Order: sequence, then structure tokens, then C-alpha cells
Amino acid sequence: STQVSQIDLSYFDIYATLTHFNFTPFLNLTQFNLSGNYFEGPIPSAIGNLSKLTTLDLGHNFFSGEIPVEIGMLTELKYLDLRENSLNSSIPSELGLCTNLAYLDLASNSLEGKIPSSIGQLKELQYLDLRENSLNSSIPSELGLCTNLTYLNLTSNHLEGKIPPSIGQLRELQYLDLHMNSLDSSIPSELGLCSSLTYLALASNHLEGKIPSSIGQLGELRHLDLQNNSLNSSIPSELGLCTNLTYLALTSNKLSGELPLSLSNLNNITHLSLFANRFTGPLLPSLLSNWTKVAHLLLQHNSFSGNIPPEIGRLSNLIDLDLSRNQFSGSIPLTLWKLRNILSLNLSYNNLNGPFPENIDFPFPENIDLSNNNFTQAEAFLSWKITFASAPPSLTS
Ligand SMILES: *[C@@H]1O[C@H](CO)[C@@H](O)[C@H](O)[C@H]1NC(C)=O
Ligand SMILES: *[C@@H]1O[C@H](CO)[C@@H](O)[C@H](O)[C@H]1NC(C)=O
Ligand SMILES: *[C@@H]1O[C@H](CO)[C@@H](O)[C@H](O)[C@H]1NC(C)=O
Ligand SMILES: *[C@@H]1O[C@H](CO)[C@@H](O)[C@H](O)[C@H]1NC(C)=O
Ligand SMILES: *[C@@H]1O[C@H](CO)[C@@H](O)[C@H](O)[C@H]1NC(C)=O
Ligand SMILES: *[C@@H]1O[C@H](CO)[C@@H](O)[C@H](O)[C@H]1NC(C)=O
Ligand SMILES: *[C@@H]1O[C@H](CO)[C@@H](O)[C@H](O)[C@H]1NC(C)=O
Repeated sequence: STQVSQIDLSYFDIYATLTHFNFTPFLNLTQFNLSGNYFEGPIPSAIGNLSKLTTLDLGHNFFSGEIPVEIGMLTELKYLDLRENSLNSSIPSELGLCTNLAYLDLASNSLEGKIPSSIGQLKELQYLDLRENSLNSSIPSELGLCTNLTYLNLTSNHLEGKIPPSIGQLRELQYLDLHMNSLDSSIPSELGLCSSLTYLALASNHLEGKIPSSIGQLGELRHLDLQNNSLNSSIPSELGLCTNLTYLALTSNKLSGELPLSLSNLNNITHLSLFANRFTGPLLPSLLSNWTKVAHLLLQHNSFSGNIPPEIGRLSNLIDLDLSRNQFSGSIPLTLWKLRNILSLNLSYNNLNGPFPENIDFPFPENIDLSNNNFTQAEAFLSWKITFASAPPSLTS
């Protein structure tokens, strides 16, 4: 008889179930790919008989119910993709028996309960994606045993408790996304040992305490998102060592203190978002002199003070500048009006005054907000003309 070793029916518009599928003729199958069809119903436990499988891809279908525990019999499996189905069991701890797994994707199902600690037996695992489920355990410290991981995505679950310090054993990890969970406690300083990280997102959790100074050891980091937490330290000066950063978001925390001058080393930064914190102190010219690539500079809702330095006019890539709701004082630097790429400028709720240049040629005047400053009446009238605000300022007083 002809032996079938591979079945690839991906994206064939098949409407079917596997419930009555006879696996007997296919016991030597090494690759089984049904992804991107309309399969529904359960994944039958008989799948565990396909003991030679190295690839099983049932992703992007309508399978529902449990991940069968018999999956643990597939000890040759290297690639398992069940993403984008309606699986609603917990993750069976037997998955830890699939010790050859390098790629495991269970994302976008309705899986609940624990991430089993047996996951630590998957020493070959490089890619683990459990995002968009209802997992509600803590992150097992055994995950730190998966030392070949390069990609780890647990975003959009209900994970709670602390980020285990064992995460620091993941020296190959490049991508770590834990955002949109309920993680609390402080960020473990061991994270600084993950020296291959380029992408780190811990946003929208309940993290508190310090940004650890060990973050400065992440010299490859390009994307750092810690927004929407309860971090309440100052920014450690070591953050300035992360000179590859292009995206830094610390928005909506309780961070305080002055910005360390070391941040001037972030000469690749394009998106710098620090708004809704408790930062104080001036925006020193030397601080921003190297931010020449910055396009989005969002510092609103803090307690910054002092003058807006004229050097801001050298940040010629600025698209979006928001300094509103601070205590900036003195005159608005005329250099600001020379920024050619700016689309949105908000200086409202400060103590600023003029003068303004003769001609302001701004592409979107409705996106300039100069309201609630310390203008003289003449300046207030000019600022109204610049922005075409709906009501002219009162000229009686
Ligand atoms: C599986 O392979 C073995 C050894 O090559 C062979 O004897 C057996 O008939 C095959 N079974 C199936 C179902 O193809
Ligand atoms: C496969 O597995 C099921 C359940 O695990 C078992 O009942 C059955 O005998 C096995 N053999 C075949 C050929 O399906
Ligand atoms: C899981 O899905 C199955 C099949 O859709 C359903 O019968 C079962 O009630 C669900 N279980 C839970 C815990 O939601
Ligand atoms: C996790 O969710 C399940 C199902 O909703 C629930 O029974 C269990 O108590 C939850 N566990 C925790 C630790 O919250
Ligand atoms: C930060 O928050 C922690 C935990 O809520 C608290 O113990 C600590 O005193 C706070 N530190 C600062 C500097 O406010
Ligand atoms: C400018 O900022 C203030 C305060 O942060 C905000 O209320 C206002 O809507 C902003 N203006 C524009 C035009 O976005
Ligand atoms: C407002 O402007 C006046 C001069 O026009 C100045 O004396 C005063 O200090 C300014 N107030 C603040 C809070 O900057």
C-alpha cells in the first residue's frame, strides 16, 4: 500500500469535523496540516495515535471543547499550532511530555486555568504564544527552564501574581509581551539578564514600585512599553544605556522626579511618551539635543517647569508635540513655529506667553491648542487668530 506521510489541506475551504475520521491508515503521518478551514467539533483523542507526527497544524478553524490529554503521546512533535479556534479547556499538563516541541501556538482560543508547570520540560521550545485566552493562573517559575525561548507572548489573559524572577534565565529571549493581564508586585530586576530582548511590553497590568536599574543591561532593546501600571519610582539613569530604543512609553504611572540627563543618549528614539505621571523639573536643552528622530513627544499631564528650550526647534522630525498641563513658563520659543512636519501642537494649561511670529503657516490650525496660558490680551487675541478657536477671547477686563 502507498504510505501517506504528509497531509496538507490548509486553506481548502473544507467544512467538516474530525469526529468520525479513521486515523488507522495514517498512523505513519509526520505532518498533518488542516489550518485555515471550517473544521468544527472536538479534536478527537485518537489524534494521540499519530505517534510519528512532527507537525500538527489545526489553527484557524472552529474546533471547540478540550485540548485532548492524548496530545502528550505525540512525543516527536516539533510544531503544534491550534491558534484561532474555540478551545475552552485548560492546557493539559501532558503537553509537557512533547519534549521535542520548538513551536507552540495556542493563541486566540478560550483556554482557562493554569499555565501548567510541566511547560518547563519543553527545553527545545523557542516560540510560545498563549495570547488572547482566559488563562488566570500565575506565570509558573518553571517557564524559566525553557532556556531556548526567543518569543514569549502571554498578552490579553487574566494572569496574576508576580513576574517570576526565573524569567532572567531566558537569555535568548528577544520578544516578551505580557501586557493586558493582572500582574502585580514589582518588575523583577532579573529581567535585566534577558540581554537579547528587543521588544518588552508589560503595559496594562498592576505593576508597582521601581523601574529596576538593571533595565540598562538591555542594550538591544528597541521597544519598551510599561504604560498603565502603578510604577512609582523615578526613571533610573541606566535607562539611558538602552540607546537602541525607538519606542518608549511610560505613560499613566505614578513616576516622579526629574528626567535623568542620561536620556539624552536615546538618539534613536522616535516615540517618547511620558504623559500622565508626576515628573518635575525643567526640560533641559542638553536632554533633548540628541532626540533628532523623535516624531511623537508626549509630556502632558506632569509638573514640568521652566522654559521650553529654543533647541526644541531642532527636532525637525516632530509630528506631535504635547506639553499641555504642566507648569512651563516664559515665552514660546519662536523656533517652534519653524518645525515643518508638525501636525499637532498642544501647549495648553501652562504659564506661557508670546510673542508670536508675524506669519504662522501651520497646516492644521485646528490641531494647535494654546489655550489657558499666561498671555497678554493682545497675545491671547493673536493666539485665537492662529488657531481659529471657536470663541474669541474676551477683550474686556
Ligand atoms: C507504517 O510504516 C511501517 C514501517 O514502514 C509499515 O510497516 C506500516 O505498514 C505503515 N503503516 C501504515 C498505516 O502506513
Ligand atoms: C487510537 O486511540 C483511541 C483513543 O485514544 C483508541 O481507542 C484506538 O484504539 C486507537 N487506535 C486507532 C487505530 O485509532
Ligand atoms: C466548552 O465548549 C463546549 C463545546 O462548545 C461546550 O459544550 C462546553 O460547555 C464548554 N465548556 C466550558 C467550560 O465553557
Ligand atoms: C480561573 O477561572 C476558572 C474558570 O472561570 C475558575 O473556576 C477559577 O477559580 C479561576 N482561578 C483563579 C485562580 O482565579
Ligand atoms: C511606591 O509604592 C509602594 C507600594 O505601593 C510603596 O510601598 C512605596 O512607598 C511607594 N514609593 C514611593 C516612592 O512612593
Ligand atoms: C490639549 O490638551 C488639553 C489638556 O491636556 C486637552 O484637554 C485638549 O483637548 C487638547 N487639545 C487638543 C486640540 O487636542
Ligand atoms: C504671567 O505674566 C506676567 C507678565 O505678563 C508675569 O509677571 C507673571 O509672572 C506670569 N505668571 C506666571 C505664572 O508665569
